[in-house]
Amino acid sequence: REITLIGVPMDLGQTRRGVDMGPSAIRYAGVIERLENLQYEVTDMGDIEIGRRDSNPSPGHDNLKNLQEVEKASVELARAVSETIKSKRFPLVLGGDHSIAIGTLAGVAEHYQNLGVIWYDAHGDLNTADTSPSGNIHGMPLAASLGIGHEKLVNIAGYAPKIKPENVVIIGARSLDDGERELIKEKGIKVFTMHEIDRLGMARVMEETLSYLSACDGVHLSLDLDGLDPHDAPGVGTPVLGGISYRESHLAMEMLAESNVITSAEFVEVNPILDERNKTATVAVALMGSLFGEKLL
Ligand code: ARG
Ligand code: MN
Ligand code: MN
Ligand code: MN
Repeated sequence: REITLIGVPMDLGQTRRGVDMGPSAIRYAGVIERLENLQYEVTDMGDIEIGRRDSNPSPGHDNLKNLQEVEKASVELARAVSETIKSKRFPLVLGGDHSIAIGTLAGVAEHYQNLGVIWYDAHGDLNTADTSPSGNIHGMPLAASLGIGHEKLVNIAGYAPKIKPENVVIIGARSLDDGERELIKEKGIKVFTMHEIDRLGMARVMEETLSYLSACDGVHLSLDLDGLDPHDAPGVGTPVLGGISYRESHLAMEMLAESNVITSAEFVEVNPILDERNKTATVAVALMGSLFGEKLL
């Protein structure tokens, strides 16, 4: 019951400013107190250092914005996450845009044979430089972790792939690019879109997710706050209407807590500049409470 918080003030994986303040906003929303109240011993290791925005992109990387700096931060984050796991602590990574998942997973996956990943997100984040409509690396971390994309992103920490397609479950998808759709079909990736969440209900979606990942020796939760409906989580850079509700999200986290399978987690894309009175960071902390076992009675 020991947690290490790792802040990643990364905003270079996309173009909207402010998401670098996500870790501060989450700390301000009381994450440490929340987890300490649940009897965890919490250490905040502070923030990973992030380089400057690439004002003069190197030629040949036109559709991979800030590639060098994202790579550099990913290497550092991977090291911090891996050290945390080595010391038998739970790494809880605070973003930062979703490009940080490349580094988080690079640090986590070396400790497992068969790591499962729950990707809670409006998006698939399965683009490469060839398929990305934006060149934003925050739309690529799941592909990179599967070993698909630019070699610099794929080989963080010196090995690839980090995860297998059959160990990934995407929950909350409602915005996919053409190349992402093709990759999902080609690799047979399990996706619960909003259609399935509406149709089956979140309880059944989580039951199926847990049974689908039951052979895994660890499960990483990568929670993009834009998986939630923008009404409940307005402080995100790429909001998409028709998302998962606050209540459904709490149920999902509670079911993960009951199953006791989550071995690492990250909460990403909190952007306090786009937010309403720190609502999104507050939601993130409330969901962390449920994930770590908070109950009303
Ligand atoms: N699919 C779009 C892109 O690749 C949006 C990605 C949004 N990703 C995120 N982590 N919010 O540019
Ligand atoms: Mn997203
Ligand atoms: Mn995402
Ligand atoms: Mn309402």
